[in-house]
Amino acid sequence: MKLTGNTILVTGGTSGIGRALAEALHDRGNRVIVTGRRQPLLEAMSLARPGLVGLALDVDDPASFARFTATLRAHFPELNVLIANAGISRTEDMTRDAWTADDAEAIVQTNILGVVRVAAAVLPLLKGKADAAFLATSSALAFVPRADFPTYCASKAFLHSWLQSLRHQMRHVPIEVLELSPPYVQTELTGAQQASDPRAMPLPDYVAEVLQMLEDGRTPRGEVLLDRDLPRRWAERDGKYEALFSAMNPG
Ligand SMILES: NC(=O)c1ccc[n+]([C@@H]2O[C@H](COP(=O)([O-])OP(=O)(O)OC[C@H]3O[C@@H](n4cnc5c(N)ncnc54)[C@H](OP(=O)(O)O)[C@@H]3O)[C@@H](O)[C@H]2O)c1
Repeated sequence: MKLTGNTILVTGGTSGIGRALAEALHDRGNRVIVTGRRQPLLEAMSLARPGLVGLALDVDDPASFARFTATLRAHFPELNVLIANAGISRTEDMTRDAWTADDAEAIVQTNILGVVRVAAAVLPLLKGKADAAFLATSSALAFVPRADFPTYCASKAFLHSWLQSLRHQMRHVPIEVLELSPPYVQTELTGAQQASDPRAMPLPDYVAEVLQMLEDGRTPRGEVLLDRDLPRRWAERDGKYEALFSAMNPG
């Protein structure tokens, strides 16, 4: 992927990984559009960075996509890169009598349908563009799940599979399809405590590493995965799946 001179749309760009990537790509001379639901953050980001545009989009709301797509086509027809990054994460305890499917439904809405809907809105704009790229944020947990985040991990496994099919279909269009699979990173994804959890990777370090991998073209099979997560990626092939699953999910 080319790292400068693009027009890039980042969903989930109001905080965490999306925001840090959006700002780093803006610094590198790209036109950047960020989306999210928190309007005050969108406004603050565009005020702080001339040329960075904030557009409200709730990826859970199918009705908002028609309006959003019309705005994109009218004002940003040159869009050539999408980073479908919006996501939520929740624990679920299915042993509880009070457990319901509500959290699972919310995760499927945002992490799965949200990405598919954004793809439907944006792919027509990417087709035919030079240096077109479609990136989506899955997770290193796509490869071996943490059992206390069942639907979250499964939603990322969905993306891992779906992106392979998208990549294959887009090979002659062409649109480069990349999967970002972050490790545990210091953001507020699971709450404020995660942003300062010493076990999590500092956000600036993660974003710097991603940009370096993209710059070097170190994206085998379209996967943007840190070396330290390769054992999870290949656990099944290497006969390590059960040992890794047990280590991540102590009995
Ligand atoms: N941090 C980690 O350890 C980690 C590891 C692996 C993968 N990831 C993935 O990285 C992505 C970004 O997460 P993060 O860690 O940066 O957490 P974050 O700071 O909570 O960012 C989540 C982003 O998604 C947006 N979002 C959530 N629901 C949305 C909706 N319905 N419509 C539109 N935007 C929505 C949020 O914006 P608004 O609230 O403004 O809508 C926010 O900008 C997620 O897909 C996550 O699963 C994170």
